[in-house]
Amino acid sequence: MTARTWTIREVLDWATKDFAGRGIESPRLDAELLVAEALGTDRVGLYLDLHRPLVDGERSSIRPLVARRREREPVAYILGHRDFYGRRFRVTCDVLIPRPDTETLVDHALDCIPSDRPCRVLDIGTGSGAIAVTIAAERPLATVTATDISQEALNVAADNAERLGVLDRIRFERANLLSGNEHYDVIVSNPPYIARSEMASLQAEVREHEPCGALEAGEDGLDIIRALMLATQAVTAASAQLLIEVGAGQAASAADFASASTAWQPVAVHRDLNRIERVVHLRRT
Ligand SMILES: C[S@@+](CC[C@H](N)C(=O)[O-])C[C@H]1O[C@@H](n2cnc3c(N)ncnc32)[C@H](O)[C@@H]1O
Repeated sequence: MTARTWTIREVLDWATKDFAGRGIESPRLDAELLVAEALGTDRVGLYLDLHRPLVDGERSSIRPLVARRREREPVAYILGHRDFYGRRFRVTCDVLIPRPDTETLVDHALDCIPSDRPCRVLDIGTGSGAIAVTIAAERPLATVTATDISQEALNVAADNAERLGVLDRIRFERANLLSGNEHYDVIVSNPPYIARSEMASLQAEVREHEPCGALEAGEDGLDIIRALMLATQAVTAASAQLLIEVGAGQAASAADFASASTAWQPVAVHRDLNRIERVVHLRRT
């Protein structure tokens, strides 16, 4: 940006062109979100004021946000939040940015959790707390335990639980998968499931900015899913259900492993909005 006068429309066009030239997937949307954030408004506010010239202070608020996006930092980290299941979650670089695919897991988990009586729920690898907090908010009689191997992630999750008014019903525990021997009725997890060989081909936004410990899970991406199916056998009530998010193409292998373990019996594989097999749903044998 030179010292000449820029209108909101011109700065949006400039940032959009710059992002597109760098191969960023949604250049216009990203430009709008970042400029709106810098100006303390929303996207509608921008369009109501498109021809207004920016003052110096506004231009210097926009510049660092655009610079971060040019380095392929995800918009959610720059803004510090992402919406999930209709609620706003704080996100930092210590947690995976919650994905719309994971709403499929939440939908099916909620179907298993009664709204008229207590239910003990465990969320393994809670990250930002997106799943645990959503379940606690949608099912006020459920008590939720949320684990993560990362203390930094648990801090973000607890903050989200407090902001969204459910901190009193979620117990956060730092653990490798789980700890203790309390029993659960429903266990959910969106674990790391990227195969080591696929890490290099991920988008720069994911590969360079999201925590590696939230993504990679061994040679075929199933290491944590297998460990989780074995570890949860000891802490499930009779007829407990386990719902695990998996990567594209992993559902059959995950369900086969569950059957072979004899502790879990496949109930269904649920598809996400893109028709990809996304959630392996198991019942305790
Ligand atoms: C794919 S992220 C999911 C985060 C969040 N549940 C979501 O759906 O947005 C996986 C999470 O599992 C955690 N994790 C990885 N290995 C773990 C382990 N062995 N035990 C517990 N948590 C683990 C990571 O720190 C990360 O927060």
